[in-house]
Amino acid sequence: MLDHSKRLQIITTLADGQFHSGQKLGEILGVSRAAVNKQIQGLKEWGIDIYRVQGKGYQLSRPMELLEAHKLNCGSVPVELIPVIDSTNQYIKDRAETLQSGHACVAELQLAGRGRRGRAWYSPFGCNLYLSLYWRLEAGLAAAMGLSLAVGIIAAETLREQTGADVRVKWPNDLYVNDKKLAGILVELSGQAGETAHVIVGMGINMAMPTDIDTPIDQPWTSVADVGQNMPSRNELLASLIERLREGLAHYEREGLAAFTSRWNLLDNYIDRRVTLIIGPNTVSGIARGINEQGALLLENENGDITPYIGGEISLRGNDAVTD
Ligand code: ATP
Ligand code: BTN
Repeated sequence: MLDHSKRLQIITTLADGQFHSGQKLGEILGVSRAAVNKQIQGLKEWGIDIYRVQGKGYQLSRPMELLEAHKLNCGSVPVELIPVIDSTNQYIKDRAETLQSGHACVAELQLAGRGRRGRAWYSPFGCNLYLSLYWRLEAGLAAAMGLSLAVGIIAAETLREQTGADVRVKWPNDLYVNDKKLAGILVELSGQAGETAHVIVGMGINMAMPTDIDTPIDQPWTSVADVGQNMPSRNELLASLIERLREGLAHYEREGLAAFTSRWNLLDNYIDRRVTLIIGPNTVSGIARGINEQGALLLENENGDITPYIGGEISLRGNDAVTD
């Protein structure tokens, strides 16, 4: 694994938002000013906005609240903080069989963050949240679809409370505000049919992604900083999200999706709106009517008939945004 410790030491120093001279940073790291400059270029590649003023030194464009392991670990099941990682989902997946249910991994930067079906999740340093949680699902793989909808509901409710933003769910499990993507959820599974399922719940939440930079994101997106009434601490939000997910998933295991369906319908971004489902090469359009107790999306056709749709290959688009 590459050694990121020098870059992390610089960012920890600069996080206060003050100027720090190249000489002082060099002393902290035990390297030359030229070597500091090289590390600063690397930090820019991580998506960090740093500039230099002659005679004053380096400064971040805004102060940064870095994640701290002791603020995230409240219960007896660990939350691992790995500042730079390929993908928190991959990390948990590689270790799933050995972990306690509820074990979490969080990062400041993902070098290979992923979305559904091999898509990339843009994961710059320090301005968003990247979280994966391991869950042992005794009921087996069949219960996983409902679990992934429950995750979206729990996350939307937590974000609504903590940010005041009008966070909504998009089937099957993205979070939207003002028809723009605020967060993505990726649930990955392993296990044999009929046995305990190993579930990896991954979530990326945009907290304060700079709006003036080019991103590779090819659909409308937003951040808490742009839509929230208040900006929660990243550490506090992450800690309460992990706690709420652990409680909520235990509740899901006891009660099933029935305990969540009415909450879903209150939060559904597309309920009673015209949508198109993209199912492989096919599309079907109609009016979204919420979900049923299996977690299927209910779609009403022009004759007023309602059909349930379920399956990981389905993508939902609002009719004003069908681009795929
Ligand atoms: P669906 O889940 O309905 O199939 P989707 O287009 O949202 O559709 P996902 O696989 O869920 O696809 O998410 C990956 C997509 O999310 C990427 O293709 C990109 O458009 C977008 N994306 C990537 N990073 C971010 C981010 N940080 N914030 C918002 N959107 C992002
Ligand atoms: C999506 O909308 O497609 C889901 C995106 C999920 C992104 C999160 S970030 C933390 C975790 N690690 C990953 O590599 N992906 C998920």
